[in-house]
Amino acid sequence: MTRILGIETSCDETSASVIEGSGDDVAMQSLVILSQDVHRVFGGVVPEIASRQHLTAIVPVVTRALADADSSLDAIDAVAVTNAPGLVGALLVGVSYAKALAFARDVPVIGVHHMEGHLFATSLEHADAVPPFTALLVSGGHTLLIDVEHWGSYRILGATRDDAAGEAFDKVAKMLGLPYPGGRPIERLAGESNPEEARPFRFTRPMVRGDQQLGDPDYFDVSFSGLKTAVLNAVRASTDIERDRRAIARAFQDAMIDTLVEKSWRAARSFGRQRIVLGGGVACNRALANTMRDRLGPLGVSVFAPTPRLATDNAAMIARAGLFHFERGVRDSLSLNAYASMPIPGTVQVVG
Ligand code: KG4
Ligand code: ZN
Repeated sequence: MTRILGIETSCDETSASVIEGSGDDVAMQSLVILSQDVHRVFGGVVPEIASRQHLTAIVPVVTRALADADSSLDAIDAVAVTNAPGLVGALLVGVSYAKALAFARDVPVIGVHHMEGHLFATSLEHADAVPPFTALLVSGGHTLLIDVEHWGSYRILGATRDDAAGEAFDKVAKMLGLPYPGGRPIERLAGESNPEEARPFRFTRPMVRGDQQLGDPDYFDVSFSGLKTAVLNAVRASTDIERDRRAIARAFQDAMIDTLVEKSWRAARSFGRQRIVLGGGVACNRALANTMRDRLGPLGVSVFAPTPRLATDNAAMIARAGLFHFERGVRDSLSLNAYASMPIPGTVQVVG
């Protein structure tokens, strides 16, 4: 049994978690997530403010995570911390704190790639959300389709060519006068509408055509900037936006979901996977997970979506990925640094 303290400060959540286990048999003993609401005022994350808020929050958040787990620092075998990708100033708060803890307690520190953390998140709740699987990671900053043959072996199949899925939700929300972050408000507004009402606004599914084949560069990739512009045009053309906004939200969400389901299905089918694991903030969208289950369940694919606190940024997933590396003998030195971008370690082949 290994006990890991995880720390995550890559964006606007200060989070700490204690997990314990071995192999895929892992129990989450605590998870504390402090979300920085201040950024709502600015309609997006302000890096300098994020770093300062992490500085204020890091000690109480870690202390609380240890207390919730009934653990002292002495019982921790290693500290896992997100060191890429993200806002460098924000990452450095977590990395510096993790290194200080590791030095003081003479335990290893392990740097974790944030997106690899997302791949592990769902397995903390669903014992079957383990490789081999197709992963769809959809957040405010990333849209990635990855084939996971086994932990530590990631084939990047597709990515967004412009906006991330969550970013598109946020921008469309702004067009419709909804608050930031816009994913949840859009889902709620779309839920008040129906396919019938949304039909006049139907948007083209970006990069989804019947004549695409495996090997084509756009077979797995996605692109949302055209969809965003189409929504903007619909908003401008509306003669009564109060009446039309819920139908537009629905039409946008339907186009987004159809695209993500089709691309995920292509990935699962191409590699013979029977599981699709969702991750990232957009995985909180119930309509996405439900539509994927409805369409792909009959085709023999199980769909796993994490609950919101494990879908969005959290330290439990970082601790979980850290445990995997710890068990493989990975140890980082106290010169561990933070990086704004970095490829996911274990990327085996890039297609397209
Ligand atoms: O993973 P996350 O918390 O942070 C990063 O971007 O790394 O993802 C946040 C994104 C935002 O763009 C937000 O609008 C979106 O996730 N989101 C949703 C929903 N809840 C959050 N998008 C669609 N439907 C939701 N229910
Ligand atoms: Zn994230």
